[in-house]
Amino acid sequence: MLDKINSLKTEIEALTAANLDEVEVLRIKYLSKKGLVPALMNDFRSVPAEQKRTIGQAINDLKTFATDKINSLRESLSSAGDDFSGIDLTRTPSPVKLGTRHPLSIVREEIIAIFRRLGFNIAEGPEIEDDWHVFSALNFAEDHPARDMQDTFFINRTPDVLLRTHTSSVQSRVMETTKPPIRIICPGRVYRNEAISARAHCFFHQVEALYVDRDVTYSDLRQTLLYFAREMFGPETKIRLRPSYFPFTEPSAEMDISCNLCGGKGCSFCKHTGWVEILGCGMVDPNVLEACGIDSKIYSGFALGMGVERITNLKYQVKDLRMFSENDTRFLEEFTSAH
Ligand code: DAH
Repeated sequence: MLDKINSLKTEIEALTAANLDEVEVLRIKYLSKKGLVPALMNDFRSVPAEQKRTIGQAINDLKTFATDKINSLRESLSSAGDDFSGIDLTRTPSPVKLGTRHPLSIVREEIIAIFRRLGFNIAEGPEIEDDWHVFSALNFAEDHPARDMQDTFFINRTPDVLLRTHTSSVQSRVMETTKPPIRIICPGRVYRNEAISARAHCFFHQVEALYVDRDVTYSDLRQTLLYFAREMFGPETKIRLRPSYFPFTEPSAEMDISCNLCGGKGCSFCKHTGWVEILGCGMVDPNVLEACGIDSKIYSGFALGMGVERITNLKYQVKDLRMFSENDTRFLEEFTSAH
């Protein structure tokens, strides 16, 4: 009996099948009710009592062995159903394609990092604002043209709810709630009612900086600006401040840097002047300090604001402002190595 079991085992061990139908034929032959393995049970009845234990165990083992064999034949055939011919499985997989950071984010982070080194901390404010924080607290006259619907997107009139036109609104919010010393940098998106073109957009990005403390002077402002310009555009960069006007600063200035394309010699980018304008700045007007609850006899401050798109254009010569918001991956991929 044991010989019979063993020879059946050897037979099963050697089984092969070319397809799933053949496996099924084998299953029926060996394992179905009338198959060869269950048929052993007929002989088992005549096995002497003292051998029943050993033989019974051997038949059970054979049954397990046959079931495993049939299953493994079936599995190997069903996974072989995938056709790998023509595919080089040894090839290195294509690397996962990482996205790129947006050029405006790269430049914004760079600006923030420079000011952080000077001890400025990030402050943020809402994009949906009120008239007070965007205009009145910043000393804009009642009839200032910036308040006009032509420039500002109003969401509601009386009470005024509007999209901020500059990040200077964060200045007024912080000054209202914080006792000097204040040293903040405010990055954010701003909105203006402009027709979209290569040179203008209805939204863009600014970074504002504000420093208020005892004895803050114009030379602190100038030195901060020089440090910023050199860190941002290289150690050879020169700056020049031209008198200007903003309602919230007195005196006010606009800062030019020596053209970083021609090094100041004059080219079409700087319109052959050797200089390009990059930001507005000035000493915080005492009216603004007072409007925000800061005693202008004790404290003074400087502020500056710049457009992130402008700085990015200077660094990367992006000709058309619309590129920044179109999410064309061919444009964005150009900045893969820029960070
Ligand atoms: N808010 C100004 C603008 O949007 C930029 C600016 C100019 C900000 C002078 C300032 C500043 O803080 O002192 O054009």
